[in-house]
Amino acid sequence: MVAAIPEAVSPKKAHSFAHRHLLGIDGLSQGDVYAILDLAKGYIARNRLPDKKHAILKGRTLINLFFENSTRTRTSFELAGKRLGADVINMSVATSSAKKGETLIDTAMTLNAMHPDFIAVRHPESGAVHLLARKVNCSVINSGDGCHEHPTQALLDALTILERKGKIEGLTIAICGDILHSRVARSNMKLLTLLGAKVRIVAPPTLMPASPESFGVTPFYDMRKGIAGCDIIMMLRLQVERMEGNFIPSLREYFHFWGLDDEKLSYAKPDALVMHPGPINRGVEIDSQLADDINRSIILDQVEMGVAVRQAVLELLSAQS
Ligand code: NCD
Repeated sequence: MVAAIPEAVSPKKAHSFAHRHLLGIDGLSQGDVYAILDLAKGYIARNRLPDKKHAILKGRTLINLFFENSTRTRTSFELAGKRLGADVINMSVATSSAKKGETLIDTAMTLNAMHPDFIAVRHPESGAVHLLARKVNCSVINSGDGCHEHPTQALLDALTILERKGKIEGLTIAICGDILHSRVARSNMKLLTLLGAKVRIVAPPTLMPASPESFGVTPFYDMRKGIAGCDIIMMLRLQVERMEGNFIPSLREYFHFWGLDDEKLSYAKPDALVMHPGPINRGVEIDSQLADDINRSIILDQVEMGVAVRQAVLELLSAQS
């Protein structure tokens, strides 16, 4: 029997989403966030059917402009765009004029002249995506800018938690590891506190941002204490590409004190779930077997939710462009 196509795709929009770009979690209201998450829920079901295609973005063009490597984010933007019927172009630095010295703005203006409807941009400099958004006519989606923000990652994380726990408000969530260099941590601190979670950040002093309380979260400098009683443990990769100098004595010592394994996880709630945005460094921030433990790890759910959230973001932005 063929499953019915869920109604929830393209529902009547109870909350109007009045944003032309998605540059960060800053500036989004709770209503905006639930407009994205509610729409994304319909896409989860549709993406599990044999026919995943829609015509909602037929005739529109999405350019994925990536100045940094990416597997999950770029692929899921590509799938999201194609499943909604858009034409999708992938541009990476290696094949672009950026290697020949063309500036970010020149690249943006050149692409803009080809009339895209959306540009999803990843760039190593914090703030670069905001700058680009001021120079083009289309919708810009921040797909990660330096250590600053990665809003679609936080949104897909929130959708994953909602799907597994049924709520976010009132949950205790620990974000652990290299907070200092992580745009995923920054976007998640803002989003999860906006949605009413009690958020902790757990890191060695060298990887903790200055004045962590300003994010509305509680800092912990010990893994077992930070994890104790938590519903969700979100692990982060050591962002070595953003480190200038030595932030940890050795990878072995880092895993000993800060790596998540079954013993440290036993301090969390018995039904606590483990997340990681990927890519994972097995044996550095997370024990390899734990990462694959389908009873505790929801890392692959995060990947699945990524496509649905990006479809929802593209659909909502298309109404503004
Ligand atoms: C994250 C990123 O690029 O910021 N990855 C991702 O988008 N899936 C986290 C990371 O690279 O560690």
